[in-house]
Amino acid sequence: MQTPPPSAFIIPIPLRSPLLRLPPRRPHKTSYSVSALFPNPSSSSSSSYSTSDADLSSRGFHLRRTPDGLNLAHLNSVFASVGFPKRDLDKIRTALDHTDCLLWVEYEKTKRPVAFARATGDGVFNAIIWDVVVDPSFQGIGLGKAVMERVVGELLGKGIRNIALYSEPRVLGFYRPLGFVADPDGIRGMVYSRKQQQKKKK
Ligand SMILES: CC(C)(COP(=O)(O)OP(=O)(O)OC[C@H]1O[C@@H](n2cnc3c(N)ncnc32)[C@H](O)[C@@H]1OP(=O)(O)O)[C@@H](O)C(=O)NCCC(=O)NCCS
Repeated sequence: MQTPPPSAFIIPIPLRSPLLRLPPRRPHKTSYSVSALFPNPSSSSSSSYSTSDADLSSRGFHLRRTPDGLNLAHLNSVFASVGFPKRDLDKIRTALDHTDCLLWVEYEKTKRPVAFARATGDGVFNAIIWDVVVDPSFQGIGLGKAVMERVVGELLGKGIRNIALYSEPRVLGFYRPLGFVADPDGIRGMVYSRKQQQKKKK
């Protein structure tokens, strides 16, 4: 994806990545690529987080920034609980090995992951955020926002200015206040369509 100009965009595109597959109970035809260019890295400083690490900790939610201690089977269960397909654990491990920035929240009482997000990229210019998820029992209490703020903050801290993600239409309202906008200057995201290629071959 070419680096877009400093503005934002939403793009209807067929969702193909297994890492982003949508909940089967809510089928729809399109997803959206949402991108953000952040002109001011300081806007993501820890002081601008809506909830501090200490406050989260006092509520029993501990932020973890490495995969150490992350039970992948439990993570997979969280994925499944929001409708993502269950994935092969070895493949999740490989994906995490190739992840530049990762953040998860461990719930003190159960020691289980209850929120997660990660980003891949070239480490300098571009990053894409994947697998943003909060356990349904813990949704609506600020964990998704806390995780996203910190992932974005970490990427900006590395000087990465072009940060993108794919959003389900129903989640656009979650990402917008976090700085993500759709379709900047008419730019469209595109994804390789295996389905279309298969049709062509027939
Ligand atoms: C989307 C998701 C990550 C949000 O996490 P969450 O912990 O429930 O969200 P938070 O409690 O941090 O909400 C932060 C803010 O976003 C708002 N928000 C949350 N979900 C929203 C949605 N779907 N649409 C619009 N706003 C939303 C909240 O009202 C809150 O607003 P406030 O800051 O004004 O109070 C979570 O619902 C989830 O895991 N969903 C299933 C998986 C999924 O769809 N992931 C995204 C794939 S594209």
